[in-house]
Amino acid sequence: MGRQSKGHAIMISVPYQGHINPFINLALKLASKGFTITFAHLEFVHQKLSKAHHSSNGTEVDLFTQARESGLDIRYATFSDGFPLEFDRELNFDEYWEIILRDFAGLVDEFIGKTIQSEPFIVPFLVTDIVFYPWPAIIADKYDIVNVAFWTQPALVFSLACHWELLRENGHFPCEDNVEEEINYIPGVKSINTRDIMSYLKEAGSASVVFKCLPMATEGIKKADFILHNTVDELESDIISALNKYQPNYAIGPINFSRNLATYTVSKSLRSESDCTQWLESKSPGSVLYVSFGSFVHTSKQIIEEIAYGLLLSEVNFIWVIREGILGSGDTNVLPVGFEDEIKDEGLIVPWCDQIMVLSDPAVGGFLTHNGWNSTVESMWCGVPMICYPIAYDQITNAKLVVDDWKIGIRLCDQGMSVDRKVVAEKIKSFMSGGSISKNLRVEADRVKETMRDALESDGSSERNFDKCIEDLEAKIH
Ligand code: UDX
Repeated sequence: MGRQSKGHAIMISVPYQGHINPFINLALKLASKGFTITFAHLEFVHQKLSKAHHSSNGTEVDLFTQARESGLDIRYATFSDGFPLEFDRELNFDEYWEIILRDFAGLVDEFIGKTIQSEPFIVPFLVTDIVFYPWPAIIADKYDIVNVAFWTQPALVFSLACHWELLRENGHFPCEDNVEEEINYIPGVKSINTRDIMSYLKEAGSASVVFKCLPMATEGIKKADFILHNTVDELESDIISALNKYQPNYAIGPINFSRNLATYTVSKSLRSESDCTQWLESKSPGSVLYVSFGSFVHTSKQIIEEIAYGLLLSEVNFIWVIREGILGSGDTNVLPVGFEDEIKDEGLIVPWCDQIMVLSDPAVGGFLTHNGWNSTVESMWCGVPMICYPIAYDQITNAKLVVDDWKIGIRLCDQGMSVDRKVVAEKIKSFMSGGSISKNLRVEADRVKETMRDALESDGSSERNFDKCIEDLEAKIH
């Protein structure tokens, strides 16, 4: 590669789209700063990628061929999670993750050992997604290597999760469902109502794998040498400052838009993308509502039906991503019978798309979203205000940031999760109308967009934080 490597980062990706996207961008960013990278996907993820991107001549997908040709020292590897390829990890989510979080250190050990040996003259270190904890702490200990932890969601969510003991002392872990109390004792967090905390901190989520594994995971996180956050200092500075009292934390987001990374073509999407460009070209600026609930959470047929007819009644143009499996079952009849004929040219239904491309299109004026953190950040980056319909996990807390703190979105439901087509239609109409509510949202969305873009300028906070992190990392590993 012509220059000396700064160190060998070993990175194993969490097998979900919402984690793959930021993690690959982090890998590219580290590589572009002179690190050698070994980036691994689990075999079943590799299989999905191959299906989505397989070239017609049948050659295997190697994520980083083009990045290597452009001079980055980045290798791609795959290994097994110990489950057969055909095991349905989505339907058996809790069972799968309980085993993964318990046994992954053992599984990954051999792979890490071999990878370290493959580059005996470059100092190795781990870069892992925090969702994987506690195994990275165990492995870093075993090989006596530095451990960089990456948090792909907002710092607020991280802080709430890491303070579960404090929440428990105050009777908020698990937090009683439907009780509304202010939490104002978490360092750096001004105040948050219990209705806005993550679903896995509540009683209803107490059977979930995240609830059960949180104590063990946070013990591991305490051992990380550095923590990177996919957020921006200017948006969450109090929380990041408070976290810095425990460990070095760096806000380096939005990682998916980092400078110069767009020059590297990497297959990230686990599904084939439909091209919406032509349809969008036929629509006037700001007239289209983009609707998507991400790659992971499920919803019901009844909710889909209310949203479908709400969209129709609103008479607003829309693109709606109805991905395979959105109902959490094999049922492929997702939309109401006849709906696709009724929408004519006003709506476009796709199984998957290039979301950033869609959000960047001038025709798009709003995003009806489940508030996965990537979707939220992508909307913010593009200055597109949101109608929030959070379904689970961090999405509830992310929606609170969007609506209450940053004022760049409204809620689809004023209470609970149930939706009614008439309410949906009214909300969409007033949101897309250009009236005063909608104007204010757009002004704030432009402001947040500027904040995000400034953070990634060469002298912006996220770029400076990233450089500082590298400096600290190099001092620690050498
Ligand atoms: C999961 C969790 O559900 C979420 O709460 C957490 O914040 C991140 O991990 P997911 O639900 O998939 O993520 O949502 P999100 O974080 O928004 O990630 C989805 C990604 O898929 C985005 O980067 C988005 O650009 C991409 N996407 C989505 C597409 O490329 N095309 C689509 O059609 C839909």
